[in-house]
Amino acid sequence: MSNTNPQGPGDAGWPEYLTGGGSSHGADQPGGPAAPRRVIGTPPPSAARTMLPDRGHDGPAPPPRELPADPDDPRRAKKAELLVAACFILAMLAGFGFLVAYGTIGVGTIVKVQHSNWALGGTLGLALLLLGVGATLWVRHLMPTVELTENRHPMKSEPKDIEAFKETFEEGAETSQFVKRPLVRRSLIAATIPLAVAPLFLLRDLGPLPGDSLDTTVWRKGLRLLIYGTGRPITPAEFSSPGSLVSVGPEGYLDDDDAMAKAAVIIIKFRPGQISFTAANYPVPGKTVENWTVDNIVAYSKVCTHLGCPAALYDQVTHHILCPCHQSTFDATEGARVTFGPATRPLPQLPIGVDSQGYLIATGPFNQPVGPSFWERG
Ligand code: FES
Repeated sequence: MSNTNPQGPGDAGWPEYLTGGGSSHGADQPGGPAAPRRVIGTPPPSAARTMLPDRGHDGPAPPPRELPADPDDPRRAKKAELLVAACFILAMLAGFGFLVAYGTIGVGTIVKVQHSNWALGGTLGLALLLLGVGATLWVRHLMPTVELTENRHPMKSEPKDIEAFKETFEEGAETSQFVKRPLVRRSLIAATIPLAVAPLFLLRDLGPLPGDSLDTTVWRKGLRLLIYGTGRPITPAEFSSPGSLVSVGPEGYLDDDDAMAKAAVIIIKFRPGQISFTAANYPVPGKTVENWTVDNIVAYSKVCTHLGCPAALYDQVTHHILCPCHQSTFDATEGARVTFGPATRPLPQLPIGVDSQGYLIATGPFNQPVGPSFWERG
Protein backbone atom coordinates (compact mmCIF):
# COMPACT_ATOMS: atom_id res chain seq x y z
CA MET A 1 0.00 0.00 0.00
CA SER A 2 2.93 2.33 -0.36
CA ASN A 3 2.89 5.38 -2.54
CA THR A 4 6.10 5.79 -4.51
CA ASN A 5 5.30 9.36 -5.50
CA PRO A 6 7.06 11.59 -3.01
CA GLN A 7 4.44 14.31 -3.54
CA GLY A 8 1.52 11.95 -3.23
CA PRO A 9 -1.21 11.58 -5.88
CA GLY A 10 -3.41 14.18 -4.27
CA ASP A 11 -0.77 16.90 -4.13
CA ALA A 12 -0.53 19.85 -6.45
CA GLY A 13 2.51 18.46 -8.29
CA TRP A 14 2.44 15.90 -11.08
CA PRO A 15 2.74 12.27 -10.05
CA GLU A 16 6.15 10.77 -10.46
CA TYR A 17 4.96 8.16 -12.94
CA LEU A 18 3.88 10.93 -15.31
CA THR A 19 7.04 12.97 -15.08
CA GLY A 20 9.38 10.02 -15.21
CA GLY A 21 10.64 10.78 -11.70
CA GLY A 22 13.25 13.27 -12.92
CA SER A 23 13.79 16.68 -11.43
CA SER A 24 14.94 18.52 -14.53
CA HIS A 25 11.41 19.68 -15.44
CA GLY A 26 7.96 19.94 -13.94
CA ALA A 27 8.22 20.92 -10.29
CA ASP A 28 11.37 22.93 -10.90
CA GLN A 29 9.56 25.41 -13.13
CA PRO A 30 9.02 28.81 -11.55
CA GLY A 31 5.41 29.43 -10.58
CA GLY A 32 4.49 25.79 -9.97
CA PRO A 33 4.47 22.49 -11.76
CA ALA A 34 4.41 22.34 -15.57
CA ALA A 35 2.63 19.83 -17.76
CA PRO A 36 4.32 16.44 -17.84
CA ARG A 37 6.51 15.68 -20.79
CA ARG A 38 5.26 12.18 -21.34
CA VAL A 39 5.65 11.17 -24.94
CA ILE A 40 3.12 8.73 -26.32
CA GLY A 41 4.86 5.44 -26.79
CA THR A 42 7.35 5.99 -23.99
CA PRO A 43 6.73 3.42 -21.26
CA PRO A 44 6.49 4.95 -17.77
CA PRO A 45 8.55 3.40 -15.00
CA SER A 46 6.92 0.34 -13.51
CA ALA A 47 5.94 0.73 -9.88
CA ALA A 48 3.13 -0.53 -7.73
CA ARG A 49 1.21 2.33 -6.15
CA THR A 50 -1.94 3.27 -4.37
CA MET A 51 -4.72 4.24 -6.75
CA LEU A 52 -6.63 7.49 -6.60
CA PRO A 53 -7.75 8.27 -3.04
CA ASP A 54 -11.25 9.30 -2.06
CA ARG A 55 -11.50 13.08 -2.54
CA GLY A 56 -13.51 14.32 0.37
CA HIS A 57 -17.06 13.27 -0.46
CA ASP A 58 -19.53 12.11 2.09
CA GLY A 59 -19.63 8.53 3.20
CA PRO A 60 -17.10 6.12 4.53
CA ALA A 61 -13.72 6.20 2.90
CA PRO A 62 -13.17 3.22 0.63
CA PRO A 63 -10.30 0.93 1.48
CA PRO A 64 -6.97 1.77 -0.17
CA ARG A 65 -6.54 0.19 -3.55
CA GLU A 66 -3.24 -0.86 -4.94
CA LEU A 67 -2.54 -1.08 -8.62
CA PRO A 68 0.01 -3.72 -9.54
CA ALA A 69 2.78 -2.53 -11.81
CA ASP A 70 2.84 -5.65 -13.98
CA PRO A 71 1.04 -8.98 -14.27
CA ASP A 72 2.09 -11.53 -11.67
CA ASP A 73 3.61 -13.92 -14.15
CA PRO A 74 5.75 -12.12 -16.78
CA ARG A 75 6.24 -15.27 -18.90
CA ARG A 76 2.52 -15.87 -19.05
CA ALA A 77 1.96 -12.21 -19.86
CA LYS A 78 4.49 -12.43 -22.69
CA LYS A 79 2.68 -15.43 -24.13
CA ALA A 80 -0.60 -13.57 -23.90
CA GLU A 81 0.97 -10.58 -25.61
CA LEU A 82 2.07 -12.73 -28.53
CA LEU A 83 -1.36 -14.31 -28.74
CA VAL A 84 -3.06 -10.92 -28.75
CA ALA A 85 -0.70 -9.64 -31.42
CA ALA A 86 -1.35 -12.77 -33.52
CA CYS A 87 -5.09 -12.15 -33.32
CA PHE A 88 -4.69 -8.55 -34.39
CA ILE A 89 -2.36 -9.43 -37.25
CA LEU A 90 -4.76 -12.12 -38.50
CA ALA A 91 -7.56 -9.58 -38.20
CA MET A 92 -5.52 -7.23 -40.36
CA LEU A 93 -5.03 -9.96 -42.98
CA ALA A 94 -8.75 -10.77 -42.92
CA GLY A 95 -9.45 -7.06 -43.37
CA PHE A 96 -7.18 -6.93 -46.39
CA GLY A 97 -8.88 -10.10 -47.63
CA PHE A 98 -12.18 -8.22 -47.45
CA LEU A 99 -10.76 -5.44 -49.61
CA VAL A 100 -9.27 -7.88 -52.12
CA ALA A 101 -12.53 -9.86 -52.32
CA TYR A 102 -14.44 -6.65 -52.87
CA GLY A 103 -12.15 -5.58 -55.67
CA THR A 104 -11.82 -8.92 -57.46
CA ILE A 105 -15.16 -10.72 -57.19
CA GLY A 106 -17.66 -9.18 -59.55
CA VAL A 107 -21.37 -8.90 -58.94
CA GLY A 108 -22.66 -9.15 -62.50
CA THR A 109 -24.62 -12.36 -61.96
CA ILE A 110 -26.57 -13.94 -59.13
CA VAL A 111 -23.87 -16.61 -58.70
CA LYS A 112 -21.18 -13.94 -58.46
CA VAL A 113 -23.26 -12.02 -55.96
CA GLN A 114 -23.50 -15.20 -53.87
CA HIS A 115 -19.73 -15.68 -53.99
CA SER A 116 -19.13 -12.03 -53.21
CA ASN A 117 -21.48 -12.12 -50.22
CA TRP A 118 -19.80 -15.20 -48.82
CA ALA A 119 -16.31 -13.76 -49.27
CA LEU A 120 -17.17 -10.29 -47.92
CA GLY A 121 -19.19 -11.60 -45.00
CA GLY A 122 -16.61 -14.25 -44.14
CA THR A 123 -13.59 -11.95 -44.19
CA LEU A 124 -15.29 -9.07 -42.41
CA GLY A 125 -16.78 -11.39 -39.80
CA LEU A 126 -13.41 -13.04 -39.25
CA ALA A 127 -11.67 -9.67 -38.87
CA LEU A 128 -14.19 -8.48 -36.29
CA LEU A 129 -14.10 -11.83 -34.47
CA LEU A 130 -10.32 -11.78 -34.23
CA LEU A 131 -10.34 -8.20 -33.02
CA GLY A 132 -12.81 -9.20 -30.32
CA VAL A 133 -10.80 -12.27 -29.31
CA GLY A 134 -7.59 -10.24 -29.17
CA ALA A 135 -9.21 -7.53 -27.07
CA THR A 136 -10.67 -10.13 -24.70
CA LEU A 137 -7.32 -11.86 -24.24
CA TRP A 138 -5.70 -8.50 -23.67
CA VAL A 139 -8.14 -7.55 -20.94
CA ARG A 140 -8.11 -10.94 -19.25
CA HIS A 141 -4.38 -11.67 -19.29
CA LEU A 142 -2.52 -8.37 -19.51
CA MET A 143 -4.57 -5.85 -17.58
CA PRO A 144 -4.57 -6.09 -13.77
CA THR A 145 -7.69 -7.31 -12.03
CA VAL A 146 -8.64 -4.75 -9.41
CA GLU A 147 -11.93 -3.88 -7.85
CA LEU A 148 -12.83 -0.20 -8.08
CA THR A 149 -15.48 1.56 -6.02
CA GLU A 150 -16.29 5.24 -5.97
CA ASN A 151 -18.72 7.42 -4.04
CA ARG A 152 -21.44 9.17 -6.01
CA HIS A 153 -20.52 12.71 -6.93
CA PRO A 154 -22.64 15.80 -7.61
CA MET A 155 -23.43 16.18 -11.29
CA LYS A 156 -21.38 19.34 -11.70
CA SER A 157 -17.70 18.59 -11.95
CA GLU A 158 -15.36 20.62 -9.81
CA PRO A 159 -11.86 21.49 -10.94
CA LYS A 160 -10.36 18.90 -8.65
CA ASP A 161 -12.72 16.27 -10.12
CA ILE A 162 -11.64 17.20 -13.61
CA GLU A 163 -8.06 16.85 -12.47
CA ALA A 164 -8.92 13.50 -10.92
CA PHE A 165 -10.53 12.35 -14.16
CA LYS A 166 -7.43 13.32 -16.03
CA GLU A 167 -5.29 11.36 -13.64
CA THR A 168 -7.64 8.38 -13.84
CA PHE A 169 -7.54 8.46 -17.60
CA GLU A 170 -3.78 8.55 -17.68
CA GLU A 171 -3.64 5.87 -15.04
CA GLY A 172 -5.97 3.72 -17.15
CA ALA A 173 -3.88 4.31 -20.24
CA GLU A 174 -0.92 3.03 -18.35
CA THR A 175 -2.57 0.03 -16.75
CA SER A 176 -4.13 -1.06 -20.02
CA GLN A 177 -0.55 -1.72 -21.16
CA PHE A 178 -1.41 0.10 -24.37
CA VAL A 179 1.66 2.27 -24.07
CA LYS A 180 3.90 -0.29 -22.49
CA ARG A 181 3.39 -3.00 -25.07
CA PRO A 182 4.13 -1.54 -28.50
CA LEU A 183 3.67 -4.91 -30.24
CA VAL A 184 0.04 -5.10 -29.16
CA ARG A 185 -0.53 -1.42 -29.82
CA ARG A 186 0.92 -1.44 -33.31
CA SER A 187 -0.70 -4.69 -34.35
CA LEU A 188 -4.06 -3.33 -33.20
CA ILE A 189 -3.57 -0.16 -35.20
CA ALA A 190 -2.54 -2.23 -38.22
CA ALA A 191 -5.64 -4.41 -37.84
CA THR A 192 -7.98 -1.44 -37.92
CA ILE A 193 -6.46 0.23 -40.99
CA PRO A 194 -8.20 -1.94 -43.63
CA LEU A 195 -11.48 -1.72 -41.75
CA ALA A 196 -11.18 2.06 -41.67
CA VAL A 197 -10.81 2.31 -45.44
CA ALA A 198 -13.39 -0.40 -46.23
CA PRO A 199 -16.29 2.14 -46.41
CA LEU A 200 -14.46 3.93 -49.22
CA PHE A 201 -14.51 0.72 -51.25
CA LEU A 202 -18.20 0.26 -50.55
CA LEU A 203 -18.88 3.57 -52.31
CA ARG A 204 -18.43 1.59 -55.53
CA ASP A 205 -21.85 0.07 -54.91
CA LEU A 206 -23.45 3.43 -55.64
CA GLY A 207 -22.70 2.95 -59.34
CA PRO A 208 -22.83 2.37 -62.21
CA LEU A 209 -26.20 3.78 -63.09
CA PRO A 210 -28.68 1.18 -64.37
CA GLY A 211 -29.15 2.84 -67.77
CA ASP A 212 -32.20 1.37 -69.56
CA SER A 213 -31.80 -2.05 -67.94
CA LEU A 214 -34.82 -1.36 -65.72
CA ASP A 215 -36.98 -0.50 -68.71
CA THR A 216 -36.44 -3.55 -70.88
CA THR A 217 -36.53 -7.35 -70.78
CA VAL A 218 -35.09 -9.93 -73.15
CA TRP A 219 -38.47 -10.48 -74.82
CA ARG A 220 -38.44 -9.62 -78.51
CA LYS A 221 -40.35 -10.55 -81.63
CA GLY A 222 -40.12 -14.24 -82.55
CA LEU A 223 -39.04 -15.73 -79.17
CA ARG A 224 -41.09 -18.78 -78.32
CA LEU A 225 -42.89 -19.07 -75.01
CA LEU A 226 -41.36 -22.08 -73.20
CA ILE A 227 -43.12 -23.71 -70.26
CA TYR A 228 -41.21 -23.00 -67.08
CA GLY A 229 -40.02 -26.32 -65.66
CA THR A 230 -40.17 -28.48 -68.79
CA GLY A 231 -38.68 -26.03 -71.29
CA ARG A 232 -41.17 -27.13 -73.98
CA PRO A 233 -42.86 -24.73 -76.40
CA ILE A 234 -46.63 -24.72 -76.34
CA THR A 235 -49.37 -24.43 -78.95
CA PRO A 236 -52.78 -22.83 -78.45
CA ALA A 237 -54.35 -26.26 -79.00
CA GLU A 238 -52.39 -27.72 -76.08
CA PHE A 239 -53.46 -24.83 -73.90
CA SER A 240 -57.18 -25.08 -74.56
CA SER A 241 -58.67 -25.53 -71.10
CA PRO A 242 -60.37 -22.26 -69.97
CA GLY A 243 -59.17 -21.05 -66.58
CA SER A 244 -55.72 -22.59 -67.01
CA LEU A 245 -52.61 -20.64 -66.05
CA VAL A 246 -49.02 -21.56 -66.99
CA SER A 247 -45.73 -19.85 -66.20
CA VAL A 248 -43.53 -19.39 -69.25
CA GLY A 249 -40.20 -17.82 -70.15
CA PRO A 250 -38.44 -16.69 -73.32
CA GLU A 251 -36.73 -19.28 -75.49
CA GLY A 252 -33.01 -19.43 -74.66
CA TYR A 253 -33.29 -17.70 -71.31
CA LEU A 254 -35.00 -20.19 -69.00
CA ASP A 255 -31.72 -20.95 -67.20
CA ASP A 256 -30.65 -17.31 -67.05
CA ASP A 257 -31.72 -16.20 -63.58
CA ASP A 258 -30.91 -12.56 -64.26
CA ALA A 259 -33.02 -12.46 -67.42
CA MET A 260 -35.85 -14.49 -65.89
CA ALA A 261 -36.06 -12.15 -62.92
CA LYS A 262 -37.73 -9.65 -65.26
CA ALA A 263 -38.96 -11.82 -68.13
CA ALA A 264 -41.18 -14.31 -66.29
CA VAL A 265 -44.67 -14.37 -67.84
CA ILE A 266 -47.98 -16.06 -67.11
CA ILE A 267 -50.41 -17.10 -69.82
CA ILE A 268 -54.09 -17.57 -69.06
CA LYS A 269 -56.78 -19.19 -71.21
CA PHE A 270 -60.26 -17.62 -71.20
CA ARG A 271 -63.64 -18.53 -72.63
CA PRO A 272 -64.84 -16.46 -75.57
CA GLY A 273 -66.46 -13.24 -74.41
CA GLN A 274 -64.83 -13.16 -70.98
CA ILE A 275 -62.11 -10.65 -71.87
CA SER A 276 -62.74 -6.93 -72.04
CA PHE A 277 -60.80 -5.99 -75.16
CA THR A 278 -59.32 -2.82 -76.57
CA ALA A 279 -57.19 -2.17 -79.64
CA ALA A 280 -53.41 -1.78 -79.55
CA ASN A 281 -53.61 1.52 -81.46
CA TYR A 282 -56.03 3.03 -78.99
CA PRO A 283 -55.27 1.29 -75.68
CA VAL A 284 -57.81 1.98 -72.99
CA PRO A 285 -56.77 1.58 -69.36
CA GLY A 286 -58.50 -1.42 -67.80
CA LYS A 287 -58.76 -3.30 -71.10
CA THR A 288 -56.79 -6.16 -72.61
CA VAL A 289 -55.24 -5.48 -76.01
CA GLU A 290 -57.05 -7.85 -78.38
CA ASN A 291 -54.49 -8.22 -81.13
CA TRP A 292 -51.85 -9.16 -78.54
CA THR A 293 -53.79 -12.34 -77.71
CA VAL A 294 -54.26 -15.71 -79.45
CA ASP A 295 -57.51 -17.71 -79.15
CA ASN A 296 -58.38 -15.96 -75.87
CA ILE A 297 -54.93 -16.68 -74.45
CA VAL A 298 -53.44 -13.64 -72.73
CA ALA A 299 -49.86 -13.17 -71.51
CA TYR A 300 -49.02 -10.88 -68.59
CA SER A 301 -45.80 -10.14 -66.76
CA LYS A 302 -45.47 -12.34 -63.68
CA VAL A 303 -43.51 -9.65 -61.80
CA CYS A 304 -45.76 -7.77 -59.40
CA THR A 305 -45.78 -4.02 -60.04
CA HIS A 306 -45.68 -3.34 -56.31
CA LEU A 307 -42.36 -4.79 -55.13
CA GLY A 308 -41.62 -7.49 -57.67
CA CYS A 309 -42.89 -10.69 -56.08
CA PRO A 310 -44.12 -13.40 -58.49
CA ALA A 311 -47.84 -12.80 -59.00
CA ALA A 312 -49.14 -16.19 -60.08
CA LEU A 313 -52.03 -17.15 -57.80
CA TYR A 314 -55.11 -17.26 -59.99
CA ASP A 315 -58.79 -17.46 -59.10
CA GLN A 316 -60.73 -19.00 -62.01
CA VAL A 317 -64.08 -17.70 -60.73
CA THR A 318 -63.20 -14.01 -60.30
CA HIS A 319 -60.34 -14.06 -62.87
CA HIS A 320 -58.15 -12.36 -60.31
CA ILE A 321 -54.38 -12.71 -60.25
CA LEU A 322 -53.18 -12.40 -56.66
CA CYS A 323 -49.71 -11.46 -55.46
CA PRO A 324 -49.04 -13.38 -52.25
CA CYS A 325 -46.62 -10.82 -50.79
CA HIS A 326 -48.98 -7.91 -50.03
CA GLN A 327 -52.22 -9.09 -51.62
CA SER A 328 -52.23 -6.86 -54.68
CA THR A 329 -54.97 -8.15 -56.95
CA PHE A 330 -55.18 -7.76 -60.72
CA ASP A 331 -58.19 -8.43 -62.97
CA ALA A 332 -56.94 -10.66 -65.79
CA THR A 333 -59.98 -9.96 -67.99
CA GLU A 334 -59.41 -6.20 -67.85
CA GLY A 335 -55.81 -5.69 -68.81
CA ALA A 336 -54.63 -6.91 -65.38
CA ARG A 337 -55.73 -3.63 -63.82
CA VAL A 338 -55.28 -3.31 -60.06
CA THR A 339 -58.46 -4.02 -58.12
CA PHE A 340 -56.97 -4.23 -54.63
CA GLY A 341 -53.72 -3.78 -52.75
CA PRO A 342 -50.67 -1.50 -52.84
CA ALA A 343 -49.71 -1.99 -56.52
CA THR A 344 -50.41 1.11 -58.61
CA ARG A 345 -49.97 -0.21 -62.17
CA PRO A 346 -51.47 -3.10 -64.13
CA LEU A 347 -49.28 -6.10 -64.94
CA PRO A 348 -47.82 -5.28 -68.40
CA GLN A 349 -49.26 -7.38 -71.25
CA LEU A 350 -46.89 -9.23 -73.58
CA PRO A 351 -47.99 -9.26 -77.23
CA ILE A 352 -48.19 -12.87 -78.46
CA GLY A 353 -48.92 -14.73 -81.68
CA VAL A 354 -48.05 -18.09 -83.27
CA ASP A 355 -45.11 -19.01 -85.48
CA SER A 356 -45.17 -21.08 -88.69
CA GLN A 357 -45.13 -24.29 -86.62
CA GLY A 358 -48.06 -23.21 -84.51
CA TYR A 359 -46.18 -22.47 -81.30
CA LEU A 360 -46.89 -19.43 -79.16
CA ILE A 361 -44.30 -16.68 -79.66
CA ALA A 362 -43.83 -13.07 -78.59
CA THR A 363 -44.67 -10.62 -81.35
CA GLY A 364 -42.73 -7.84 -79.65
CA PRO A 365 -41.32 -6.71 -76.31
CA PHE A 366 -43.36 -5.35 -73.42
CA ASN A 367 -44.51 -1.84 -74.24
CA GLN A 368 -43.74 -0.63 -70.73
CA PRO A 369 -41.31 -1.56 -67.95
CA VAL A 370 -42.17 -4.59 -65.85
CA GLY A 371 -41.98 -4.84 -62.09
CA PRO A 372 -41.96 -2.19 -59.39
CA SER A 373 -42.19 1.46 -60.23
CA PHE A 374 -39.02 3.45 -59.73
CA TRP A 375 -38.03 7.05 -59.52
CA GLU A 376 -37.51 7.69 -63.24
CA ARG A 377 -40.81 6.21 -64.29
CA GLY A 378 -42.85 9.04 -62.82
S1 FES B 1 -44.98 -7.36 -54.14
FE1 FES B 1 -46.89 -7.87 -54.88
S2 FES B 1 -48.23 -6.91 -53.57
FE2 FES B 1 -46.28 -6.33 -52.81
